[in-house]
Amino acid sequence: MPPRRTYGTKRPTSSAATAAIFGRSPPPAPLTSPPSHPASSTRDPLGELSSNLGALLLEETPVSSQPELEPEPEPESEPELLPLLRTLNISPQSWGSVLSSADTTLEKIAEASYAEVYRATNASGTSILKVMQVKVSTDPASDDTPSACAVEGLVSELSIMNVLTEVPGFVLYKEAHLIRGTPLLQIKQAWDSWVETSGKPSLFPDPESFGPTSTFLVIELGDAGKELDQVPMEHIEQVWDVLLGVIIALARAEESHEFEHRDLHESNICVLQTGPLNPFAATRPARKFGFSGLETTIIDYGLSRAKIPKPPKSPNDSNTSKSFDPSNFTIAFNDLETQDLFTSQGTTPDEKMQFDNYRRMRTFLATGSRLMSAAYVDGDSSMHGHSWSEFIPYTNVLWIRYLLFYLEHDLKKHGDKKALEEFKSDTKDFKSKLNPRTTPWNGAFVNARQVLEFCVKAGWVTERQLSQE
Ligand SMILES: Nc1ncnc2c1ncn2[C@@H]1O[C@H](COP(=O)(O)OP(=O)(O)OP(=O)(O)O)[C@@H](O)[C@H]1O
Ligand SMILES: [Mg+2]
Repeated sequence: MPPRRTYGTKRPTSSAATAAIFGRSPPPAPLTSPPSHPASSTRDPLGELSSNLGALLLEETPVSSQPELEPEPEPESEPELLPLLRTLNISPQSWGSVLSSADTTLEKIAEASYAEVYRATNASGTSILKVMQVKVSTDPASDDTPSACAVEGLVSELSIMNVLTEVPGFVLYKEAHLIRGTPLLQIKQAWDSWVETSGKPSLFPDPESFGPTSTFLVIELGDAGKELDQVPMEHIEQVWDVLLGVIIALARAEESHEFEHRDLHESNICVLQTGPLNPFAATRPARKFGFSGLETTIIDYGLSRAKIPKPPKSPNDSNTSKSFDPSNFTIAFNDLETQDLFTSQGTTPDEKMQFDNYRRMRTFLATGSRLMSAAYVDGDSSMHGHSWSEFIPYTNVLWIRYLLFYLEHDLKKHGDKKALEEFKSDTKDFKSKLNPRTTPWNGAFVNARQVLEFCVKAGWVTERQLSQE
């Protein structure tokens, strides 16, 4: 998203919103360890980070008094790790060699399905660490740990992260580490204080229960701020910036990587206040984008699909995404049929719409219909020969529609009535083109690109904003 992101340094105010759509320069160095080289593509974001490595060191105190064993980089004994090691071109390291700085503070901020999320801060800035325990044969206990995940499920998400880090509006991917051994004391302390402040038990094992063969994948990301659902939409300017920021980012990734997010609810969009709110003037042009000072970032590609360059077979292999030969590309995706997604109902209107969206995506993929057929609610298992690897950009439209309704509900809760009425009136025609009951024949959007074209035509985003560097 941002053109230049320097941790610990605020971007100039004027660039806050436009930063969401313009190019990104090389990202800042990770807070952590040595570089690795993902099998990539147009740029090697991880390779670029090598210059400032190891600047910061956490105390190397394992949770237990047991000395931390040096990890054994012998993937032959753990064939299940090979897809991950190949994708990332990394080998197992110890916690101490990865997280290393005396002045780093660690705070646990979230528990996701398979990951604990920490914010690591030190003099050079902030990183978000997604920590996932990986199931490996050398650690039989991991098989019985419900929160541990199989490597196959991570490869697609990581590959997508590695290419989308270049697209403005998507989370900055700094580094990935495969770590073996007992977590450091800092992790245990952050874990304890999360349990204490959240007042609920953790769904993840106490770090003290891990041993020398416990294996973790730690993904280091840029700090994208807070989840959208933690930021009340009090101003119409915020609503427009989040909506348009997401549309612009999605349209770009759809165009460049045939990207579909497929799970774009309010916990997978982060917002960060990077500048002041500039309220709309009473008489103003049609433009809506760039007034709130909010920067929007799309995260979590667990269910996503994208076309990505194949890893080079050798260092001399010239395969890059600039070559349009289809054989140079592969499709990263998650088979949603294996997920327990299509039967959930939800209780709030937003949740209902979110869960309906999974069914709508499936119905559209299997039958081409925009309307949810009752059959899928009852668990019709037929995909009619279709696969989740297919490119169905209409899913992006479904999630834009979801976001529009979410923002409108939130503005209703936290904003004033006049702002809500104004927003509703401005988006009436837009909404009808997002409505699944409208046919493409009658102008319904078929992809995020068309949605963005509408926004530009309406003057909500200017072409200058889209092209400015
Ligand atoms: N880069 C980031 N900046 C700020 N917060 C983040 C970042 N990445 C993740 N988070 C926080 O951690 C939470 C979980 O992350 P994420 O959605 O990527 O994990 P997940 O395992 O895919 O989650 P789930 O399957 O539960 O949706 C997010 O909802 C957000 O609160
Ligand atoms: Mg998530």
